Amino acid sequence: MTYAEITGWGKCVPPAIMTNDDLATFLDTSDEWIRTRTGIEERRVSAVGTSTMARVAAENALAAADVDATEVDLIIVASCTADEIIPNMASKVQQDIGAKNAAAFDLNAACSGFLYAMHYATGAIKAGMHQKVLIIGAERLTRILDWTKRESAVLFGDGAGAMLLESSENEVGLLASKVSCDADARDVLSLDFGLGFDRYDFDGVMPFNFEGQEIFKRAVKGMSAAIEDVFKQTGKTVDDIDALIPHQANKRLIDFLGKMCKVPEGKTMVNIQKYGNTSSATLPIAFCEALETGMVKPGDTIMSAVFGGGLTCGAGLIRW
Ligand code: ACO
Repeated sequence: MTYAEITGWGKCVPPAIMTNDDLATFLDTSDEWIRTRTGIEERRVSAVGTSTMARVAAENALAAADVDATEVDLIIVASCTADEIIPNMASKVQQDIGAKNAAAFDLNAACSGFLYAMHYATGAIKAGMHQKVLIIGAERLTRILDWTKRESAVLFGDGAGAMLLESSENEVGLLASKVSCDADARDVLSLDFGLGFDRYDFDGVMPFNFEGQEIFKRAVKGMSAAIEDVFKQTGKTVDDIDALIPHQANKRLIDFLGKMCKVPEGKTMVNIQKYGNTSSATLPIAFCEALETGMVKPGDTIMSAVFGGGLTCGAGLIRW
């Protein structure tokens, strides 16, 4: 049997920190409101483009795996904040790291992007179509936020994370997964990138629409159903997992999901306090930090769950 072993991982978090108090200097908000409603204490703001963060995370993952970029045969970048629409960001990463033998494409499933990338990359490796796949989640959300809108400006941050997946006979990597999309709820989370120039005068600020409470409800429902599906596929239960690593969009939502799925206290990875919601980058950054802190160790079994605009949703059982 062929599996997609995670042989390298890396992250890139920009050094510049914006605290809740910094935001309160120009927005009608407070550290107390942001902390209690979201769990966020600070976020990172990038001075460089999304592709630069993607490149740094990718180089770190390759270095950790001790694999030369020329051996990579596919690069998938999950992002909804690419520097350019055409050519794609994956080709920029390919050029920058010298992965001249790789195919390269971007994937936009909003905040669910990294798990989507893992799902399809794992499938391609298992099918024998690819041997070494670099998957990256990278976002520069602060570049497109409307900084006059407190309801969205306080939630997001920048960053990137990457994993190298390699064809292997070891029974590790993404062992089972479920991805889905609830397109009837497309409108509850949308960010119009302004391609329809005929519809309004594009001034560089993206009209960001989201209905927080509706997303909250659908996210909990969608993620818990996806987790249940994955447990059913594998015959495992919550007692078999060492950690839950979910998308980091709101600490209350993470706690709610943990309770609903009966995950024991202390087994859920939370780092939203440091980075806010970095969309497709939350998952790989959280994985890196779970490993750095010893929360996840080789041999551990992890459940991951995500949701994002679309509304996309997913869960995956990963053996490290
Ligand atoms: N500071 C102070 N007050 C604020 C702020 C702010 N930054 N933002 C909103 N408020 C006010 C509102 O104006 C409202 O005031 P009112 O009662 O006088 O009308 C009050 O706070 C409550 O607003 P709600 O939107 O009802 O607050 P809620 O408790 O739902 O929290 C939040 C909003 C944090 C967005 C929550 O709904 C949530 O986390 N939802 C799910 C995740 C999500 O939507 N993430 C966004 C990205 S989506 C993704 O990651 C896929």
